[in-house]
Amino acid sequence: MRTVDAYNFAGKKALVRVDFNVPLDADYRITDDTRIRAAVPTIQKILNDGGAVILMSHLGRPKTGPEEKYSLRHLVDRLSKEFNTTVKFATDCVGPEAAQLAQDLKPGEILLLENLRFHKAEEKGDLEFARELSTLGDVYVNDAFGTAHREHASTAVIARYFPNDKVMGYVMHAELDNARRVMDNAERPYTAIMGGAKISDKILIIEKLMDKVDNLLIGGGMSYTFVKADGGEIGSSLVEEDKVELARRLIAMAREKGVNLMIPVDSIIADEFSNEANVDTALSHHIKPLWMGLDIGPNAREMYADVIRNSKTILWNGPMGVFEMSNFSVGTEAVAEAVVDATRRGAYSLIGGGDSAAAVNQLGYADRVSYVSTGGGALLEYMEGKTLPGVAAIERDDY
Ligand code: 3PG
Ligand code: MG
Repeated sequence: MRTVDAYNFAGKKALVRVDFNVPLDADYRITDDTRIRAAVPTIQKILNDGGAVILMSHLGRPKTGPEEKYSLRHLVDRLSKEFNTTVKFATDCVGPEAAQLAQDLKPGEILLLENLRFHKAEEKGDLEFARELSTLGDVYVNDAFGTAHREHASTAVIARYFPNDKVMGYVMHAELDNARRVMDNAERPYTAIMGGAKISDKILIIEKLMDKVDNLLIGGGMSYTFVKADGGEIGSSLVEEDKVELARRLIAMAREKGVNLMIPVDSIIADEFSNEANVDTALSHHIKPLWMGLDIGPNAREMYADVIRNSKTILWNGPMGVFEMSNFSVGTEAVAEAVVDATRRGAYSLIGGGDSAAAVNQLGYADRVSYVSTGGGALLEYMEGKTLPGVAAIERDDY
């Protein structure tokens, strides 16, 4: 892999694509800075070499153009504190201001460009936009693993303008390393925990994992499509009607392959989708009409924790319940605790980005699991066996 370690940045301006798509609250305060912290070593390496850093990222999904809530300006203070310097800011990622600021940038200095997605050309992978961005730096560094599954101007297309000067940052390298660790030759017993609202997002990865894991623990909203496929009464729980047949097929596939597929035996149920709802516990196969399962129940919790504690490799993607609501966060917490426990006893644990990473961070467990991925969709696509354009653009000479 071509990484920043093989490159001397002395006197160079490095154009670094990071994934600073971080959650902001209503006052534009950063509520989870994992992705910023993750990018620090790559930036620091460039500065230490005697290079200058031009950071570019997207934030959110702006529709037509600039929107205050998606401005990367909100990250300037956080970055300035991190690097003990005044981080400069270009109010547009291309154009005369960005060009001038980039030109004037001295070794040891950092320039942050405004949100790339304020230009539609970014997501379109527009060649001319990529070329204009490329003129800002001497070398292209991609450290945006969370966005590596997008073939956008700044994540892939731009690499064409740096045929001999394109490398991966440390985040990218570590992410690929950790993902491979659970995909190839994982130590057994190997347990995958899959949660989240929808099966449709997870079908490919679940099928892939069937050939690798010993245990497959299902949680979150998608549990009820499995329960229904298994003949249960799920009340008004979330269900993907068009995926019931698929869930049935996955249950049969697990049986054929000798995979221990577990669906929560019981659930915390509620009479409406709200933290103020009336709450009860029920067998997942016997949920009252008009009630819905919003978390795994106490028996499922115990069974899952037991399997996890006896595992040597653990992959976790997606919460066990409606984690944002305190009444339905217990299942996710119990799973997180068991993962931490297993890790302490020598298991390798990978937390796949998105909501499960947020849960682990929120619980303060990030340092007590083996690796928390900064990628959600990107990690899943990589594990499904897809080529990530952000990776291919760096690794392939003919990109
Ligand atoms: C993410 O948070 O999923 C990444 O930053 C990619 O963002 P996107 O899904 O809007 O492309
Ligand atoms: Mg996404």
